[in-house]
Amino acid sequence: MQIIAHRGASGDYPENTLLAIEQAVLQGADAVEIDVFAVDGELIVIHDHHLARTTNGSGSIYQHSLAQLQQLDAGRGQRIPTLWQVLQLLAPTTLWLNIELKGDNTVAPLLSLLKRAERELQFDVNRLLISSFNHHLLAALKQQQPALKLGALTASLAIDYAAFARQLNAYSVNCDVSFINQAFVADAKARGLKVYVYTVDQADDIARMAEYGVDGIFSNYPARSRQQLAAQP
Ligand code: G3P
Ligand code: MG
Repeated sequence: MQIIAHRGASGDYPENTLLAIEQAVLQGADAVEIDVFAVDGELIVIHDHHLARTTNGSGSIYQHSLAQLQQLDAGRGQRIPTLWQVLQLLAPTTLWLNIELKGDNTVAPLLSLLKRAERELQFDVNRLLISSFNHHLLAALKQQQPALKLGALTASLAIDYAAFARQLNAYSVNCDVSFINQAFVADAKARGLKVYVYTVDQADDIARMAEYGVDGIFSNYPARSRQQLAAQP
């Protein structure tokens, strides 16, 4: 079972910052998950479109220019990173990256940034999983770049289980720990989908996910979750 650092090693470091991502690498995570919005056509790494929870700014990201956003403190003196900076940081590592699209204007900037990353960083797009709760964005991406691996996010247990993810031709279904059960995992596996579960930080949940045979968990504490997983009988 893989450990995906949720918003970086966000339990101990400011979420979605380069510091949290560096720490995820140091903590031995298999992958990093980040959230992105687009401002001025540039993809920035932040979870909320309101600034107050994670920065010293206020209001919406859309009320600011990219230059203004990059002046803000995102915790411990960290700046709001661009996706490009994250790709540069991870390019020399072996980790894979889950980019969660939050804004509905993210598809075109993502496609052009990935082309640039392949060209300038030799970043293999197979190391990327693009996810979203907005399945229309995923469908648009798949249409334009069919080789991209997609993660269909869900926060609910649909009556036909993981059928929606298969319909999207997704690589994985990324689902909430609060509803996942053995039947859902069995259904997803039968459809040839990987199963990644968020957010799994507690020992009892880690044990249950291992028992279900899920492929990975999103953890805010990658090193600690790895230890708890290793300690399972
Ligand atoms: O991608 C998994 C998880 O991050 C989805 O929810 O709100 O933490 O972005 P959220
Ligand atoms: Mg996320």
